[in-house]
Amino acid sequence: MLGRSGLSRTGSFRPENLGQNALHMIGHLCFTLFVIGVLVFTIIAATYEPKNPIFHPSTKIETFLTSSSNATFRSDNTVVRTGEDFMVSNQTAFATFINAKDVVETKEGSTDEISLSRCEGDWKEPIDCKDPEVFHLMMKVVIERFEDIHFYQFGKPAPGPKENTCDMAWRFRPKEGKTVAFFKDYRRFVIKRSKKCKLSVVSIGDYHSGVNARKKKRKNQKPGFEQGGVPLPVVGEPINDSLPVVESEIAFSRGKYLIYAGGGDRCKNMNHYLWSFLCALGEAQYLNRTLVMDLTLCLSSIYTLSNEDEEGKDFRFYFDFEHLKETASVLDQQQFWEDWNEWQRQDGLTLYLVEDSRVTPMQLSEVKDSLIMRKFGSVEPDNYWYRVCEGETESVIRRPWHLIWKSRRLMDIVSAIASRLIWDYDSVHIVRGDKARNSDLWPNLAQDTSPNTLISTLQGKIEDGRNVYVATNEPNMSFFDPLKDKYSTHFLEDYKDLWDENSEWYSLTKELNYGIPVDFDGYMRASVDTEVFFRGKKQIETFNDLTDDCKEGVNTCNTATS
Ligand SMILES: *[C@@H]1O[C@H](CO)[C@@H](O)[C@H](O)[C@H]1NC(C)=O
Ligand SMILES: *[C@@H]1O[C@H](CO)[C@@H](O)[C@H](O)[C@H]1NC(C)=O
Ligand SMILES: *[C@@H]1O[C@H](CO)[C@@H](O)[C@H](O)[C@H]1NC(C)=O
Ligand SMILES: *[C@@H]1O[C@H](CO)[C@@H](O)[C@H](O)[C@H]1NC(C)=O
Ligand SMILES: *[C@@H]1O[C@H](CO)[C@@H](O)[C@H](O)[C@H]1NC(C)=O
Repeated sequence: MLGRSGLSRTGSFRPENLGQNALHMIGHLCFTLFVIGVLVFTIIAATYEPKNPIFHPSTKIETFLTSSSNATFRSDNTVVRTGEDFMVSNQTAFATFINAKDVVETKEGSTDEISLSRCEGDWKEPIDCKDPEVFHLMMKVVIERFEDIHFYQFGKPAPGPKENTCDMAWRFRPKEGKTVAFFKDYRRFVIKRSKKCKLSVVSIGDYHSGVNARKKKRKNQKPGFEQGGVPLPVVGEPINDSLPVVESEIAFSRGKYLIYAGGGDRCKNMNHYLWSFLCALGEAQYLNRTLVMDLTLCLSSIYTLSNEDEEGKDFRFYFDFEHLKETASVLDQQQFWEDWNEWQRQDGLTLYLVEDSRVTPMQLSEVKDSLIMRKFGSVEPDNYWYRVCEGETESVIRRPWHLIWKSRRLMDIVSAIASRLIWDYDSVHIVRGDKARNSDLWPNLAQDTSPNTLISTLQGKIEDGRNVYVATNEPNMSFFDPLKDKYSTHFLEDYKDLWDENSEWYSLTKELNYGIPVDFDGYMRASVDTEVFFRGKKQIETFNDLTDDCKEGVNTCNTATS
């Protein structure tokens, strides 16, 4: 059958197989011509790659952080924005998605059924998931079922565990999404064949239920989805964020490295960490050197469940290390020191030590030593890494924000939540916490975010009865109970099962953490909350939308605008 031979194994159609497909098809007279036409269209649609939809104002994220930065960061910890949130998509470039009517011309006039063209009295035979007619039916039904997403690619169905089930994967984006990321879903379909050989889909399983259609990661497969040379995140694909290894002594000895050691940045808030880390990475890129980084983090007490600083966190709990290692030259310091100790002497590798952060990257550009080590002292705030990027360096080193994406393990939770709301919800970000308690700097915030005021402010902004996702740092959810009279409210806490002991996230992070379970901490919460908020159809922010108070406190409205 066509399905077995023609469709590519990679989960998408490939134009180069078209000739082969066509030959097979002509061989099978049982197929009607329109299937070929439709298939050709699907091939074009499924492999269509728009040109250069993106990019680049990473300055916007800098404003987002610097607006609240000083020697110590006093930023809003209820919002977590990373590089991918600032990629600007050219919406027209995403316009070519796959439509239901492109998949199957509905000659029968029935939407949920199609007739098998071959029916030899074998209606009791098991369903052949690879049969193109089954494939087309599944595509059509799923496109019609999920009205709020656009489909970009379908994978070849795989048989499910029972005879009448098939699993199928697809790549999609929310229809009204402003973010550029793609998502992958795979679900289980129950399919029925009537005595007259009419096929119909009885049910479609939950998000990520079709595990047989989930592809194992191929070696050397890029994590992103390239478009015009710019990788885009694809959430839901298998992750390989293993630590990079240097393949040989020769490769190691030829390399040039930069490492930052010591400093006062440890256990500071995550914005401070990123601001410093990206300064180091920016300098390494400027010097054409590999950044030797420490993948272990100290998580600030403002995010931990214990309310104390916690060492031993992994960069990969929070950020997409696979994207980082694919797009920048980085090494883990542990691996680096092992190699260095082994080969440094015999290969005559030399170290250049810099102990004053006022030495600029430009002054280091002529250094020939294998390793440049910047050592930072113990006096704050002069021992912060980001000091290196201040002054005249500021105009030379660009922080490479586009290299920092959120962990795709976290983004999978985001995608699962949005899927449960069928991508049809509005969102409200309600900042309370310390700010609401500080009436000197935020005189109206507590009142403006109280449930009764919210009800009247949201009137006219969000229709009654809508699904509303509330992203908030208010710990007491029953505080918002009055909103339930008008809206169907949803909070991050309602989706605990996505990170509890039986969740995929739990087992994946535990595996990454050498078998020790990982807390779903405050930074992860804020990351997920932010991203679910961004996927709402209407997005209502606290500052500007709900209150006239300024984001950074009284009289800061002119300086802080993001
Ligand atoms: C930065 O910190 C200094 C010293 O604490 C303070 O005087 C200054 O007002 C702060 N600037 C901002 C923008 O918060
Ligand atoms: C978006 O892309 C289309 C073609 O892909 C191009 O014609 C259009 O000018 C682009 N728009 C912007 C704002 O870049
Ligand atoms: C993960 O990627 C590394 C290269 O970064 C590769 O050497 C390794 O084989 C990959 N692991 C798997 C399981 O694919
Ligand atoms: C880094 O490499 C680029 C391109 O190879 C070169 O133009 C640049 O001068 C190099 N920078 C330094 C500091 O060596
Ligand atoms: C939560 O908020 C409700 C409604 O405002 C209040 O009655 C209750 O006491 C609060 N609970 C806690 C633990 O603060």
